[in-house]
Amino acid sequence: TIKPVTELIVVNKVIAPDGFARSATLAGGIFPGPLIKAQKNDNFSINVVNRLHDKNMPLSTSVHWHGIQQKKTNWADGASFVTQCPIPQNRSFLYEFSAPNQTGTFWYHSHFSTQYCDGLRGPLVIYDPEDPHRDLYDIDDENTIITLSDWYHDPSPKLNKIFGPVTSNSTLINGLGRYRGGPKSPLSVINVVQGKRYRFRILGLSCDPSYNFTIDGHTMTIIEADGIETVPETVDSLPVLAGQRYSVVVFANQPVDNYWVRAPSNFPNQTFAGGLNQAILRYNGAPDEDPTSTPGPYILPFNEGKLASLLSIPVPGFPEIGKADVHINLLAATVNGIFRINNISFHNPPTPVLLQMLSGARHPSDLMPSGSVYELPSNKVVEITFPNTGLALGGPHPIHLHGHNFAVVRTSGNSTTNFVNPIWRDTVSMGSTGDNVTIRFVTDNSGPWFIHCHIDFHLDHGFAVVMAEARDQLADVNASIPASWASLCPSNEPSSQS
Ligand code: C2O
Repeated sequence: TIKPVTELIVVNKVIAPDGFARSATLAGGIFPGPLIKAQKNDNFSINVVNRLHDKNMPLSTSVHWHGIQQKKTNWADGASFVTQCPIPQNRSFLYEFSAPNQTGTFWYHSHFSTQYCDGLRGPLVIYDPEDPHRDLYDIDDENTIITLSDWYHDPSPKLNKIFGPVTSNSTLINGLGRYRGGPKSPLSVINVVQGKRYRFRILGLSCDPSYNFTIDGHTMTIIEADGIETVPETVDSLPVLAGQRYSVVVFANQPVDNYWVRAPSNFPNQTFAGGLNQAILRYNGAPDEDPTSTPGPYILPFNEGKLASLLSIPVPGFPEIGKADVHINLLAATVNGIFRINNISFHNPPTPVLLQMLSGARHPSDLMPSGSVYELPSNKVVEITFPNTGLALGGPHPIHLHGHNFAVVRTSGNSTTNFVNPIWRDTVSMGSTGDNVTIRFVTDNSGPWFIHCHIDFHLDHGFAVVMAEARDQLADVNASIPASWASLCPSNEPSSQS
């Protein structure tokens, strides 16, 4: 078996991934952070060590394992103020969890303030020796992981004071890119051998923008979305919103040459021109030169409206969601750059929601932050609708639910519903004005779970609620909580030392 990374040391370090040097907050001192890889049903045991010192950025941290369901281990979900107190400077915290039967492409990122915009984000892959799509590709290794991320020249606490659109300086593909007016910094190269079929894992590690991913001269066959295998669907462009992941099969069946990989974003200054938003697909034997390839013709574009046609491959464990027991509407709106859901803006509570629940806060209305916590009974089918009335500015908003995959029973651009064989994933676009994107999931996972917009500035500006789920099963969660967990909270700090 592949041994998972066992330590993530979080440091401040000056890096220049696009040619501009800035102090960043990094896992393992690199961007993106080191690949955490595992095989199906491996156990994870990851010690996060906080060695931060740059006072221009947050000095505390916590790490969320995006897409990992954390069954019975809500305390290890890494969401500051929801499932834990942040890890203070010079302290560490051991995250221990398993991911029964989960396979595919995931990621990890800071879940403290807007810290992941400063760099704390990286890929996590759970390989499946019995992948149902194994016959569709020849190669699936670390070289075929493609991360897309935005990069900023200012520390995030400064950007976060802007209550309106923020624009990144550059787009990094596998940690390399260029900014407008900057030097001809190196671009990342994805190497392929002619005649081989590759599983490319494309990860949206974005803080804000969404990308449209294409490879000149090549189509892509989608086989996975957010850790769930899909019925293969061939496309020539792929929208990747913050938090979303796809696996696609790319057949290196073109003449030996260099081809542009393009990931323009929805930020107006982030286009392909001038060397921005590009990487190079290089066939073995092609010269070490920039491509001269042209895009398109894009006759098989994929968009969120087409999500309805992308089907998950049902696996044992996909629950029945044909009839909903609980219906919740979450209406998002913006007031002066501050987000509200059902009229309430999310603020961090003084005590993590899980700790409040364990300490006996009995009634949902007792739970802080008040008005932002929804109580969900156990073993019910919950339906959540996100009516897009055009009031939540600055989209498309990628909605992410912790602790679950959910069925997208109504996608963006769709007025019809699919309760029979919908796509299951963990991050979905709220679409555009007039859409009523709707998800369903089963409350089989006890604990408080964040549901929020994955544009990190929007989360920090209140676009979030918490689902306090299945409190009658909290004893299961409590049983695995280590003593170190409560000691992260200031009032429980050990008196002698840490
Ligand atoms: Cu990937 Cu709450 O986040």
